[in-house]
Amino acid sequence: MIATKTVKDYIRTIVDFPHEGIMFRDVTTLFADPRGFRMAIDQMLHPYAGQRIDKVVGLEARGFIIGGAIAHQLGTGFVPIRKKGKLPGTTISQEYTLEYGEAIVEIHDDAITPGETVLVIDDLLATGGTAEAGIKLLERLGATIVGCAFIIDLPELGGREKLTQMGMEVHALCE
Ligand code: PRP
Ligand code: ADE
Repeated sequence: MIATKTVKDYIRTIVDFPHEGIMFRDVTTLFADPRGFRMAIDQMLHPYAGQRIDKVVGLEARGFIIGGAIAHQLGTGFVPIRKKGKLPGTTISQEYTLEYGEAIVEIHDDAITPGETVLVIDDLLATGGTAEAGIKLLERLGATIVGCAFIIDLPELGGREKLTQMGMEVHALCE
């Protein structure tokens, strides 16, 4: 019998990257495989069938790869949330902490029209700090967040609880 590969089967783990003690879940092997990549995009879209989504928002950097493909599939625009200092126009900023450091993310202040419905996309949910910061930026711009979708959830790091407590609907393809 031929075993069907799941999205999880395409993800590799790199031990001690970028710091000792971190098990880095590497989705480049998933993205590099045509079947794996398509499967991931299709499965991420599944929960949102029939829902109004005006824009897809991707979190730097791997959220851009997935979010771009999802926006193309939905026929929507794509909005990046970037690390500090990368966006050329006028931005609003939000500080956050993550599993291995601290950072600031930014969005263009005219990227969202108040009342637009958005889907937030990233590859991985760990502490939820990155997504929380992105959600705060989007809420400040008046977006309605339809959901937050990830390929991987690391449940022991509490991100899902954090986002759920903020009233977010969270979907992930694997843990
Ligand atoms: C990773 C991942 C998420 C974030 C998740 O990105 O792609 O964006 O960490 O962690 P959190 O839930 O604890 O916030 P990273 O900050 O490594 O940036 P990169 O994608 O630009 O490499
Ligand atoms: N971002 C935060 N924690 C991570 C992990 N363990 N693997 C990949 N990206 C991450």
